[in-house]
Amino acid sequence: MGLFITFEGPDGSGKTTQIKLLADYLREMGHDVLLTREPGGTPIGDQIRGVLHDIKNVEMTSVSEFLLYSASRAQLVRQVIKPHLARGGTVVSDRFADSSMAYQGYGRQLDLDTIGSTTQFATDGLTPHLTIYLDLPVDVGIRRKQTAHAAQSGELNRLDRQTIDFHHRVRDGYLKMAQAERHRWMVIDAMQAIDDTQRAIRERLETALPEVRKATIR
Ligand code: TYD
Repeated sequence: MGLFITFEGPDGSGKTTQIKLLADYLREMGHDVLLTREPGGTPIGDQIRGVLHDIKNVEMTSVSEFLLYSASRAQLVRQVIKPHLARGGTVVSDRFADSSMAYQGYGRQLDLDTIGSTTQFATDGLTPHLTIYLDLPVDVGIRRKQTAHAAQSGELNRLDRQTIDFHHRVRDGYLKMAQAERHRWMVIDAMQAIDDTQRAIRERLETALPEVRKATIR
């Protein structure tokens, strides 16, 4: 069984940059790294992503939204993630099931137990070995995303049009999850410069990886 690492965090936390830098580092260390993202990561998942992000879909209910994320995830797990892990590879995913717990559970306030059990079904029980959460104050995240949009380098999707309260609930939810499962989560301050954030991730990983290896061999 390989290694499964996920990145979580608000929009504007610099996830994409940090993921690329970490993938380079892991490859240098000899890992066979596969990068993926949610929603999407498969042709079917990419079609679902289109529906989820379409600004015209104002009628989408929270339940439909959650099930669409779960459908994209079910496809990704079986078509991409599990086969790569079975070959002993390392998978790094830009978002995974914790995003649904944070956004649809805590953010949209759907029932957390139902999110948990449906996610178990969708993922066939697959849980990341490590989850790196890039933490950012809500107002900073929103400002960064708006600046990227104004500069035409970022898209504003359906989910960006949320109230400040929603984003606070999402962040609080992430921090609660990280607190509840400390062996899996690493909370990294994303207010730092890009290089410092990456250094912090690598340092934390150096301590965590031997522990993960021991646990997966057992
Ligand atoms: P994306 O454009 O991929 O942005 P980001 O760079 O922030 O990942 O948009 C993903 C959006 O989808 C983001 O606002 C979070 C949201 N999302 C959920 O609400 N639930 C989920 O399960 C997932 C995977 C994402």
